[in-house]
Amino acid sequence: MKYDLDHVTDRSNTGAAKWDLYNGGVHSGPITAINASLDDDGPIPMWVADMDFPSPQPVIDALHERVSHGIFGYTRVTDCYYDSVIGWFSRRHDWDIKKEWITPAPGIVPACHFAVRTYCEPGDKVLIQRPVYYPFFRSITNGGCEIVSSNLIDNDGHYEMDFEDLEAKASDPKVKLAILCSPHNPVGRVWTEDELRRYGEICNRHGVVVVADEIHCDLIKPGTKFFHYAKLGEEFANNTLVCTAPSKTFNLAGMHLSSMVIPNEKLRKAFEDYMAKIGIAHGINPFAVVALEAAYDHGEEWLDQTLDYIWANHAHLKNFMAENIPAIKVYDLQGTYLNWMDFRGLNLDRAQLEELTQLKAKVLFDEGYIFGEEGEGFERINLACPRPILDAGLARLKREIG
Ligand SMILES: Cc1ncc(COP(=O)(O)O)c(C=O)c1O
Repeated sequence: MKYDLDHVTDRSNTGAAKWDLYNGGVHSGPITAINASLDDDGPIPMWVADMDFPSPQPVIDALHERVSHGIFGYTRVTDCYYDSVIGWFSRRHDWDIKKEWITPAPGIVPACHFAVRTYCEPGDKVLIQRPVYYPFFRSITNGGCEIVSSNLIDNDGHYEMDFEDLEAKASDPKVKLAILCSPHNPVGRVWTEDELRRYGEICNRHGVVVVADEIHCDLIKPGTKFFHYAKLGEEFANNTLVCTAPSKTFNLAGMHLSSMVIPNEKLRKAFEDYMAKIGIAHGINPFAVVALEAAYDHGEEWLDQTLDYIWANHAHLKNFMAENIPAIKVYDLQGTYLNWMDFRGLNLDRAQLEELTQLKAKVLFDEGYIFGEEGEGFERINLACPRPILDAGLARLKREIG
């Protein structure tokens, strides 16, 4: 079927985090975005990473059917769940996953918290690469561990890993875990096989376990190749927890179901034991599992149309800024639907930039600094929205700056 992705769905009164209350930057305090409207001057949310598109129709149909069954008792994953996960990654990614490697978890942020507590002792260190998805920070510090960042290098709009620095930092015996963001949010890089191999060799050499957060792996721009960390070879697969989920791909984040792929039995058992210890290995939300299966089994047609739409939004954003506000640089986007934009050309300090975007233009991006101080002067825009939303936001920016 052909999806109408231009259609704006009203998300008010659904408790939508993105549309109800903004906290993608702290300076101005929370802004209530309820009743945001494209026509009047209400704020337009373009921040948190969910889509403003309804999920694929087969998902909606499957959920309707499950609701009409009427009994929502304790639920376990069945073979259908494993077949759907395995089938998706085999068909779409040519990655063969064994059933026993898969552990369902209630989300990837929780999984990062669990991993820190499973593989580290308080006082240990965890390696990340800022600017990066900021909930990683709390997963580390809440576990009593210290953040060590090997910052990415911004090579004129193309971020790269600093391998020398990584090697130096990973060689600290206190570093027990590394969280790899692949594709990388917020800078939009899709790491090449060679980059991943160099990263992985460093971690393996120093006995650092790698959490490979691949939540955005289905959102890859045509012409760019995504490479799964666990496909690098046995010694890499045996030293990693790969985080996968249908939540970004099919707009199912509120379902809170992810699939951890942990080929190494010892690492997997330790992770599962930790979940059991804190009382969450008890079952699965019946709607989440139905949505996951329908999405992986029947969501491909929707995804292909949605990806085309997102890349068209990216091109539109880039052209718009080049023509209207050339001081704002839109970085290339290889993967994810989150576009990194450099506002430093406006020469504003943090407070002035927030005042401009949040209070004057009333477009709510994620402020770059929340991803680490290296993001100062940047904004992250969410492109998974109907074009009328994007256009309304851009028109307001132009009104204030252009
Ligand atoms: C890199 C990354 N990891 C994890 C998440 C969230 O995962 P979950 O909703 O499964 O906790 C996001 C959401 O934006 C993300 O960008």
